[in-house]
Amino acid sequence: MVNILSADIGTTNVKAGVFDEHGRLKYFTSERLRILFDQPGSAVQDPDEIFHRFVNVCKKAVEFVEGDVDALILSSQMHGLTLLNREGKPIVPLITYLDTRCSSVVGDIEHDYGRDLYENTGCPPLFIYPLSKILWLKKTFLHRVKEVKYVLVSAKDYVIYRLLGKVITDYSTASGSQLFNVKRLDWDSRSLDIAGIQYDMLPRLVDGFKPLDDVDKGFLKILGISGEPIVMLGGSDAALHSLGVGVLGDGSLALNLGTSAAIRVTRCKPIVDRYGMRFFCYYLGYKKWIIGGATNNAGSVLDWLKERLFRERDEEFYDFLEKIDIDTKPCPSLIFIPFLSGERFPVRDSYARGLVYGLSFNTSREDIIRSALEGIGFTLYWIYAAMNENNIIAKSIFAAGGGSRIKLWLRILSNIFNLPLYRASFIDASLLGGVIVALKEMGYFSSLEDAVKNIVNYGLVFHPKVDYKYAYEKSFRLFKGIYDSIKNTKNLP
Ligand SMILES: Nc1ncnc2c1ncn2[C@@H]1O[C@H](COP(=O)(O)OP(=O)(O)OP(=O)(O)O)[C@@H](O)[C@H]1O
Ligand SMILES: [Mg+2]
Repeated sequence: MVNILSADIGTTNVKAGVFDEHGRLKYFTSERLRILFDQPGSAVQDPDEIFHRFVNVCKKAVEFVEGDVDALILSSQMHGLTLLNREGKPIVPLITYLDTRCSSVVGDIEHDYGRDLYENTGCPPLFIYPLSKILWLKKTFLHRVKEVKYVLVSAKDYVIYRLLGKVITDYSTASGSQLFNVKRLDWDSRSLDIAGIQYDMLPRLVDGFKPLDDVDKGFLKILGISGEPIVMLGGSDAALHSLGVGVLGDGSLALNLGTSAAIRVTRCKPIVDRYGMRFFCYYLGYKKWIIGGATNNAGSVLDWLKERLFRERDEEFYDFLEKIDIDTKPCPSLIFIPFLSGERFPVRDSYARGLVYGLSFNTSREDIIRSALEGIGFTLYWIYAAMNENNIIAKSIFAAGGGSRIKLWLRILSNIFNLPLYRASFIDASLLGGVIVALKEMGYFSSLEDAVKNIVNYGLVFHPKVDYKYAYEKSFRLFKGIYDSIKNTKNLP
């Protein structure tokens, strides 16, 4: 009996699961992470809290495991930046992708280096990336810049540093930093020049899908792990999610509905937007790239509705959602622009804010929630439309993530995209992606394709409702029109 411990540092939840050689879950545990929004535009996390949550979930997941752990593999939210001093202490918290404070430098990046930077790193000029955050910190934390010894580009990098004492990262995580060349698969010298940092300040790049061979496994005790497992850095949550929902090639679109949401295809070469910079291109691993776009405003918006606007407990809110008839008509009279924390794709507008248009005395709580689900769907569809212009076309959607529990949302997304949507049986897909990699590496499968075919299952399918196609197309046009008409209101307080 095999035990694979797969752990994922998400934006809201740190999760760990123990799986067997068939990819079946034996034990699972998760803990919630705080995001601090304590200044206008800031969204930071405490790296040491992340570390402690990570240790806790691993310990709890392996507590009742029979026998030894055979493999450990990690996944992480992307784009978070933190800086370490000579003593290895963070001198800033983890500045997450939700943090918009560096927006003021993005215009200059676009003007001076935009297209070149995009073609080399796969990352358009945007506030989410560590490169922008470094330039902003250089302006605002000038007095502390000299203290910086290492620049870490994800939440996972700090956890690894605390566990192994090594400053290392994997290729897929690095490719979300705008400091990594997606064609040459190395740190990008031009980006480093722009950031004004040296190569050796960044983590050493390692293949996260191969066992680390030079680690002192003493750290396993901290995680409560017995045995001599192989240890793999794994990848970004994006890369592993795509594997965990079985999206390897043409015709399939991966959909993550987490704190953020994303759509991605997988291709055997890097592809960038020929007509703009409306989607990203990151490295997955195994000589594959993921091309797509993500929105900051997904589960985060539902959490805001639940906690701040309606002030409801989880059960109350989700029970209410569960009771809404998933086949009710679209709400064409209400348009929810969900850009509560700026938006990255496809509009790249750090100053964007939310708006609900069409409120009347008849508007109900249900209407507002449904229009929010639709608005997030339109944002994702807008990214997909840009991908279509570049001949990236899908025939089916494969979904997972915490928000994929909401069947109404899956039905709405299937209708907006006019595509069949399959929900993965195991919704924490990044964990399962890690298991797929581990099993392949352990020799259980001869190819990645084989591993995915045997491990990934789908439990629900939604077919688009033809009758609603016209109504959704109309709402999508209205959605874009309303955003276009408000996008220059950024000087409002
Ligand atoms: N019981 C529930 N029913 C429906 N949706 C839920 C439920 N619990 C959480 N969610 C939604 O799932 C979201 C979190 O999903 P998930 O755990 O996949 O995120 P994450 O991995 O932390 O974030 P990300 O993948 O963006 O880094 C929440 O924001 C919430 O909207
Ligand atoms: Mg996630």
